[in-house]
Amino acid sequence: MADKILEFVHTSTGKQIAAALGLPVPPMLKRAKAGYAEKSLSNSNALVGASAFGPVASAVVKALDSMGASIKVSADLAGLDGIKQAAAKAKVDVSISQADNGVPETVYVLDVTSAANVADLRLLYDFFNPRLRKVPSNSRIVVIGRPRGDCKDALAETAQSSLPGFIRSLAKESGKNGTTANLIQVKTGAENGIEGALRFFLSPHSAFVTGQVLPVVGAPKGVKVAAFSEKPLTGKLAVVTGAARGIGAAIAEVLAREGATVIGVDRPADESVLGTTMSSIGGVACPLDITDADAGKKLAAVAAQKGGKIDIIVHNAGITRDKMMRNMAAHLWDMVLDVNLGAIVRCNDQLLAGDAFGVNARIVCISSIGGIAGNAGQTNYAATKSAVIGYVDAMAKQLEGKGISINAIAPGFIETQMTAAIPVVTREVARRLSSLSQGGLPVDIAEAVTFMASPLAAGVNGATLRVCGQNLVGA
Ligand SMILES: NC(=O)c1ccc[n+]([C@@H]2O[C@H](COP(=O)([O-])OP(=O)(O)OC[C@H]3O[C@@H](n4cnc5c(N)ncnc54)[C@H](O)[C@@H]3O)[C@@H](O)[C@H]2O)c1
Repeated sequence: MADKILEFVHTSTGKQIAAALGLPVPPMLKRAKAGYAEKSLSNSNALVGASAFGPVASAVVKALDSMGASIKVSADLAGLDGIKQAAAKAKVDVSISQADNGVPETVYVLDVTSAANVADLRLLYDFFNPRLRKVPSNSRIVVIGRPRGDCKDALAETAQSSLPGFIRSLAKESGKNGTTANLIQVKTGAENGIEGALRFFLSPHSAFVTGQVLPVVGAPKGVKVAAFSEKPLTGKLAVVTGAARGIGAAIAEVLAREGATVIGVDRPADESVLGTTMSSIGGVACPLDITDADAGKKLAAVAAQKGGKIDIIVHNAGITRDKMMRNMAAHLWDMVLDVNLGAIVRCNDQLLAGDAFGVNARIVCISSIGGIAGNAGQTNYAATKSAVIGYVDAMAKQLEGKGISINAIAPGFIETQMTAAIPVVTREVARRLSSLSQGGLPVDIAEAVTFMASPLAAGVNGATLRVCGQNLVGA
């Protein structure tokens, strides 16, 4: 369903009325119009800083250079030392930012992985404070830190623990013009996963992702982090459940855009709409109820007919059957638990038992911020979506040795048939209660799923990434 207010305030009359009445104007987000490009930042100035020279500063400089960015360092010299050394070593040019009279930076990356005490955190202030009044719309801010358990002592861990709070606040301050701010927590030794994460967070593919923390923990055993290539899913076979419409159809489209062959699954009753969606992307329609006791085996057979194993599976199909707990019929509880959770577990078990996953396969599950915040009337739904978060965390450890990774995306308010059914006032409140003052589109979830399904996320495993514009619900 279209966000009429967002559309109206960006017309010339709407702009005048909003200005006269002092109404907030939700930003028009710049979304990707095409697939990932190698030189995605070729027209961008990137202001970069690092608290010290080390593998993270080196990885950041190399990544930005390979994306074609012009690397700038702060005229105030904040974070200069680490970057200067990293750039010299990588033979990459850096120049002093001319933010006052030159083209302003639209990309900001600060490596604070070596911040090990309270005084070291001053760099956050020194780097961002002089810049943030002039950040152009739809800019990208990324801070890089270390995750819990990865620091040399309690004080360093304390300093690093400041970063999630810092980035969530910065995201709330900067979202008004569509700028996003996110934190990458890279584990020591997993620095080769930084480029892929940066390619996502610094691009229009992540327009609705802000205020989030993404752990980069390293690739599963035997998986090499590949150099970037355009159409990174070329030759991959991907299964998407619930692919006939809504978010699932968008996921199928974006996976196909990046080169995957998609097997789209939906209920037999939706065979005709599934067929239309799949034929538009050259995919294969597979009418199948995912609660079928043998759904996993049947999917393996369909993949084998296509001549391969399953490289990617996206467990997207989901339903709501909302009732207050005291009024909920047992069959509504059972139905939601089975579609949203039982079917995922059964299907993966059968695919694993049947050796149906390809080498370095990637599993992506769809959770929800409802599973984080809870909603009255959704005990069944929220239980399943919360369980998905625990499931990917637990399964990542179990599958690590097999070279398979598993992650989840937790959508916030997304404009689909599901949310069009929400009463108008509740819907309007849900839309605006985010740092970007709007709901997301199915393509926003599709972009995040595609990132998780691709080699760009080779170092990400067991994570749940919220795609919600930093909605207050579940904050
Ligand atoms: N729309 C949102 O705002 C939102 C927010 C958070 C999470 N989600 C999650 O995103 C996913 C997609 O949601 P959506 O809004 O596109 O929903 P939707 O209802 O528009 O689409 C869901 C699809 O799943 C299919 N499906 C349902 N049960 C199935 C079964 N047993 N077997 C095969 N297919 C089945 C449906 O036929 C439908 O095509 C769901 O898991 C949902 O819980 C959505």
